[in-house]
Amino acid sequence: MSTDSNKPAVQTTGHAWDGDLQEYNNPLPRWWVWTFYATVVFAVVYWILYPSWPVGKSFLGGVKEITFQTRDGKEVTTHWNMRARYLKDIQSGEEAVKQREWLEKIANSSFEEILSDPDKLAFVRSAGKVMFADNCAACHGSGGQGKIGLFPNLVDDAWLWGGTLEDIHTTISKGRHGFMPAFPQFAENDKVDAIADYVLSLSGEQGGDSASIKKGEAIFQGEEGGCYYCHTRQATGMKSVGSANLTDKIWEIANVPGAATYEEKRAEVRKVILGGISRTMPTWKGRLPDETIKILTVYVHELGGGK
Ligand code: HEC
Ligand code: HEC
Repeated sequence: MSTDSNKPAVQTTGHAWDGDLQEYNNPLPRWWVWTFYATVVFAVVYWILYPSWPVGKSFLGGVKEITFQTRDGKEVTTHWNMRARYLKDIQSGEEAVKQREWLEKIANSSFEEILSDPDKLAFVRSAGKVMFADNCAACHGSGGQGKIGLFPNLVDDAWLWGGTLEDIHTTISKGRHGFMPAFPQFAENDKVDAIADYVLSLSGEQGGDSASIKKGEAIFQGEEGGCYYCHTRQATGMKSVGSANLTDKIWEIANVPGAATYEEKRAEVRKVILGGISRTMPTWKGRLPDETIKILTVYVHELGGGK
């Protein structure tokens, strides 16, 4: 016995194609219809609450509002959007609250208190790393190693402007302008080579002719060159003018370490003497919050060996 005969006849649309091909007229399942209506209602409610349709160059913002704080502490209320929601989250999240507490602690601590408290120091190291990457690494390199001739290496323990916390704090807050005049007049009579020989001898570079070194010394230490005004008689540099120490083996501008032969080293020093130097470290006070400058000061001080 066939089961088909027990079923009620299925309604068709009444059309027939190719003689016997019929189209059924089944109603949509009820659950499907209700789900469909629910999505329509949901969409309408959503459009009213949240940003939805473009209107000209603007869009419908929706009636739901969100309040968050901007970076400079101003409270802003705007129509709900993901960006504002994100800003609100990072401000009120557990991490953000902890971070703010730490920043406040740092703001209220002296350098000595930060250095002697392992927890504060640990915070400064990790926060400083991020702040350095955001603001300083573009010039000084991600590890602070700098680029010879362009941006000072902050990792070695040699400082143009001084390596105490106070010196570094002043450097970052107020910026620095490193300036050495050009001495094109020494291009004549091999004078520049003599001066370069003398400068290289100061840090123990072998290869200069002793008569030439003597001639260079006379110019450096005399009124003709006047190099000692800025570099001092001992040629160890002065942090008040940011002049380099010429007696250590650390080079800021002349790429002596990168030169293979004595001749090339001399050419590097010659280039500095004939061309002079002018380069600027930007001012950060007013561009970065005070506690950020404080954190960066300790961070950079630590990079340089903490001396
Ligand atoms: C636009 C490039 C640039 C940026 C960005 C920059 N610096 Fe500098 N910085 C320099 C230059 C150039 C000098 C060298 C100035 C000179 O010749 O005396 C310098 C020098 C310094 C010195 C002094 C080094 C010494 O030997 O005394 C410190 C410290 C320093 N920068 C820290 C920072 C920190 C921290 C930041 C991030 C807040 C930063 N710099 C961002 C270019 C930059
Ligand atoms: C007005 C001051 C001033 C005078 C004068 C001066 N210098 Fe300098 N010199 C500087 C400063 C400042 C720097 C470092 C610049 C910087 O890194 O921003 C410097 C850097 C140098 C360097 C590069 C050192 C390095 O680490 O790469 C050499 C070499 C040098 N001076 C040699 C001389 C000689 C030789 C004379 C005389 C002919 C002279 N300077 C006169 C201010 C001076």
